[in-house]
Amino acid sequence: MNSAKLIFDGKEVELPVTVGSENEAGIDITKLRSMTGAITLDNGYANTGSCTSTITFIDGEKGILRYRGYPIEELAEKSSFIEVCYLLIFGHLPSEDELDNFKHDLTHHSLIHEDMKKFFEGFPPSAHPMTVLSSMVNSLSAYYPESEYEEDQYLNIIRLLAKLKTIASFSYKKSIGQSYVYPQNHLTYCADILNMLFAVPSAPYDVPKVLEDALDLLLILHADHEQNCSTSTVRMVGSSEANLFASIAAGINALSGPLHGGANQKVIQMLQMIKDDGSNYKKYVNMAKDKESKFKLMGFGHRVYKNFDPRANILKDSADKVLNELGINDDPLLEIAKNLEEIALKDDFFIEKKLYPNVDFYSGIIYRAMGIPTNMFTVMFALGRLPGWIAQWLEMKDAPGARIYRPRQIYMGETKRIYKKK
Ligand code: CMC
Repeated sequence: MNSAKLIFDGKEVELPVTVGSENEAGIDITKLRSMTGAITLDNGYANTGSCTSTITFIDGEKGILRYRGYPIEELAEKSSFIEVCYLLIFGHLPSEDELDNFKHDLTHHSLIHEDMKKFFEGFPPSAHPMTVLSSMVNSLSAYYPESEYEEDQYLNIIRLLAKLKTIASFSYKKSIGQSYVYPQNHLTYCADILNMLFAVPSAPYDVPKVLEDALDLLLILHADHEQNCSTSTVRMVGSSEANLFASIAAGINALSGPLHGGANQKVIQMLQMIKDDGSNYKKYVNMAKDKESKFKLMGFGHRVYKNFDPRANILKDSADKVLNELGINDDPLLEIAKNLEEIALKDDFFIEKKLYPNVDFYSGIIYRAMGIPTNMFTVMFALGRLPGWIAQWLEMKDAPGARIYRPRQIYMGETKRIYKKK
């Protein structure tokens, strides 16, 4: 498997093959255009490897997901989100000292510049928290300029990890007209998020352990997913040597779309729509099967997973546990979700097209049970995905022979024509 032969326009060319550590083969077409004059065309990049990477491995046929070689199931059981952040960014699980220092740094950079609070005031209360999040992350580069020194780069990574949760929580407080709750150094990363979201100045609030654990798990499961839409966006923007904050802000915007991270919010909105329509879920299953209707079951299907989404499997069990512990068993939307899940797993249409419930299907249900407002679901996804984006940005920047991302196209428009006004 060292090379591939291609016959194009009667001419045979030999193309090198790169084989990954899990035996995935990639035909290297770097020289294809200079050898043949042709380029490749790949709608939605479904067959295009944009880089080599050592961060995350997915086998979509077998339902395998590993960060830096560790199976997601094991990380979900044994690690905290902060350990996973460290693993993704630095490539190995932290020693006790490394973890202590990392936690210390994250804790002591969580405050945002007081002037930044004025930016929140400028948004209308109806602004989607994802819009606020990406704008605020972008504006961080005005406070913490880029530097070529490694220690400054580390500091900016820490700042971003530490401050994103403060920004996310402030954007929620702004949207409901409550005063901001500042980060607390004595709380864990996840407890701090929940405290900033749910505490009010007028009453004490103890973060329930069940919520802290559920959030930690959700963030671990979302922490990286190789070259998906938002991660590719982070790499694409970063490849122009745009700074870390600008690249991550672009990733947040890519994540906001309903076909990507925005799906978790859309799942709940879809379930609500079905409930308001008399809970007639079969009608919506039929609509999803009817190509003319353009209706999709949100939270179903995946570009890569064609067997099952291992993150969804973990979350399905966790959803049951969290709902039990919180004593939630009469949520009508949950009932509809269970019916949809059951049908989709049995129905020929979904089986043939390999459309399984994905991570966003179950995360939406858990976030709802946790009391997280629906328009914050995708923000929670962004909090989880941040270490993956950072690790991928670093890998892209430091890759040997790193170049600006610049795909080509096949032009199908008018050929040269005479200038003439109508
Ligand atoms: N409901 C009904 N039909 C579907 C669905 C769905 N949710 N998803 C895919 N299909 C059909 C699709 O119409 C197509 O049919 P046909 O072969 O007749 O043209 C076939 O299944 C293949 O789908 P596709 O759209 O070509 O697949 P894709 O790889 O381009 O898109 C997807 C993947 C996740 C965007 C898509 O499945 C989808 O839109 N799902 C709903 C949104 C969603 O849940 N997104 C979250 C993804 S997981 C979290 C993340 O990574 O962001």
